[in-house]
Amino acid sequence: SITHVILTGGVGSRLWPLSRKSRPKQYLDIFDGKSLFEMTVDRNKDIATKIMVVGNIDNCHLSKAILAKTATDYVDIIESTPRNTAAAIAFAAFASDDDAILIVTPSDHIIGNMESYERAMGEAIDKASKGCIVTFGIIPTKPEIGYGYIERNGDDVVSFREKPNQVTAADFIAKGNFLWNSGMFCFKASVFLEELKLYAPKVYEKSKIAWEKSVAGVIDFEASMQIPSISVDYAVMEKSKKIKVVSSEFIWSDLGSFESVYEYLVSIGHPVDKHRNMVIGTEKYTAFIGMKDTIFIYTDSAHLILQKEFSQDVKSLYGTLEREN
Ligand code: GDD
Ligand code: MG
Repeated sequence: SITHVILTGGVGSRLWPLSRKSRPKQYLDIFDGKSLFEMTVDRNKDIATKIMVVGNIDNCHLSKAILAKTATDYVDIIESTPRNTAAAIAFAAFASDDDAILIVTPSDHIIGNMESYERAMGEAIDKASKGCIVTFGIIPTKPEIGYGYIERNGDDVVSFREKPNQVTAADFIAKGNFLWNSGMFCFKASVFLEELKLYAPKVYEKSKIAWEKSVAGVIDFEASMQIPSISVDYAVMEKSKKIKVVSSEFIWSDLGSFESVYEYLVSIGHPVDKHRNMVIGTEKYTAFIGMKDTIFIYTDSAHLILQKEFSQDVKSLYGTLEREN
């Protein structure tokens, strides 16, 4: 069987204040009138036979409401506290048959060109059924530091490097045989768990205990707190020797920072002024004087004025606000 595992536990802190803990970016209706979560479900419903949602107790009602609207059957795994993606994927794997093929995707990306998406998924499923862990590589356009990089030789992966610094990222781009990791994966449940056990044994053990203590789909809180909080990229992808890459021709944006939201919105015709300043979230007349490449984000509860190239700094602002409140 083929299961689409949707990761939806992140808060999208790099898009604050558009994205809030109570309503992370995958549940906003700002792109195309449909939420990114709903688009994610639609995109994979003809590829997979089953849906599994790994989400967060604070906002699982949002995914529930969307899936109820479309009367879609799914398995709900609810984290009582987020422990990052290695654990989230482990829960999905524990909930699956050993031979089940899992297509793991975030719930907050924009993807275009469904034909090549489906072709890439077909190729991935084929490789996963032979025991590989498949990543989807995107041709990079700039030395972005918020992504993982896949060094490849054909479909073989030479190395996987999560979030390099600026200098290293520029070096990767110059070398030419690096792809961005799209953050989607495909593998057999049993293969993932074997690799997790091998390379991140503590995550494996503690996730297993937390999973076994779950009640009605809700993972035990105390046991969860024992799980090391580490992303799947660091825990497994940087270390596994079973990784393959499917290079993807589909259009992809992770809308992971205001810079990428800006680029996406420009591409669909959202207005900017003559100095490329943009307003998000209000129709009210807004003027910029003496500013260039600024994004003004307007919400009911908070505003943000951001110089576009500082987009990666929003996450630390979010961290500061969280500590203060
Ligand atoms: N259930 C659950 N629990 N989901 C989570 C958790 C968690 O604790 N933490 C994050 N997620 C979800 C997020 O909502 C998102 O859909 C996905 O997992 C990936 O997490 P991000 O926090 O968005 O990761 P990232 O953007 O820093 O990096 C990943 O994606 C990049 C591409 O967008 C990595 O895989 C990079 O290598 C990749 O380039
Ligand atoms: Mg992301």
